Amino acid sequence: MVGLLYLFSCFAVAMTSALAQGVLGAYNVDPSSVSISGFSSGGFMTVQLGVAYSDVFNVGFGVFAGGPYDCARNQNAFNNCMFDNTPSIDIPTANMKSWSGVEIAHVSNLRSRRIYMQTGSADEVIGPNVMRKLKAQLDQFTNSKELTYVTTTDAAHTFPADFGGLGDNPCDTSEPPYLSNCNYDGAGAVLQWLYDDLNPRNTGSLSGRVIPFAQSGSYGAPGMDTTAYLYMPASCEDSSTICKLHVALHGCTQAYGFIGDKYINNTGYNMWAGKS
Ligand SMILES: *[C@@H]1O[C@H](CO)[C@@H](O)[C@H](O)[C@H]1NC(C)=O
Repeated sequence: MVGLLYLFSCFAVAMTSALAQGVLGAYNVDPSSVSISGFSSGGFMTVQLGVAYSDVFNVGFGVFAGGPYDCARNQNAFNNCMFDNTPSIDIPTANMKSWSGVEIAHVSNLRSRRIYMQTGSADEVIGPNVMRKLKAQLDQFTNSKELTYVTTTDAAHTFPADFGGLGDNPCDTSEPPYLSNCNYDGAGAVLQWLYDDLNPRNTGSLSGRVIPFAQSGSYGAPGMDTTAYLYMPASCEDSSTICKLHVALHGCTQAYGFIGDKYINNTGYNMWAGKS
């Protein structure tokens, strides 16, 4: 079972959630089973967290349409890390090495981390060239057997699923909510890459509940939305059951205030989180 935590990371306008928010409770999570993935700006932030906190995200991480670690600061213009450009990874990669074990967790951890990457072949917002630069960077630190790189043919800048959620776009369309039926189960692919022996996907009604919590205090940071959401499978409510934890980061304009619960529902992560 995988509990899913949605932390909202985009450095766009944070909008107040309509749902009441409380303090995140304590749950029975195996601290050696933690991973993270994200799309677009959430993909970039996943790389930041997966590298800098490789000790916390000790299973590994998954990147949908993101780019290299420490990319944007080290270009002539930050948008070298977007629009299918080819950003330089020289300074970012040198920084990973010089910060290792000092400013960030030891990059040697990355040798035993599982890494998943996905790009749409028709993504013009971030794009395959930026993702190839991420791969070239991570190849210097990771184990090739633990790394997979997926290209989704004709997919635009959009989170790929294999079902059509309410309000989603066609796969070749790059518009809000940036969620599409691309005949590819991205959430399943990343979770299955990261974890062995997952329960089959639940395509029926879900047993769990979505718990909003305040991203303040120790769960807060500048640029974060006010509220994040934890998907709690019913089987994880039992304190004798130890669950895994996966964190999912949305992209720009996918915050609750923009698209409501579409990222929570239409990515398909929750269908993999628990049995019916
Ligand atoms: C998301 O799922 C919840 C729970 O099943 C449902 O109430 C809500 O209408 C769904 N929203 C969308 C956009 O599908």
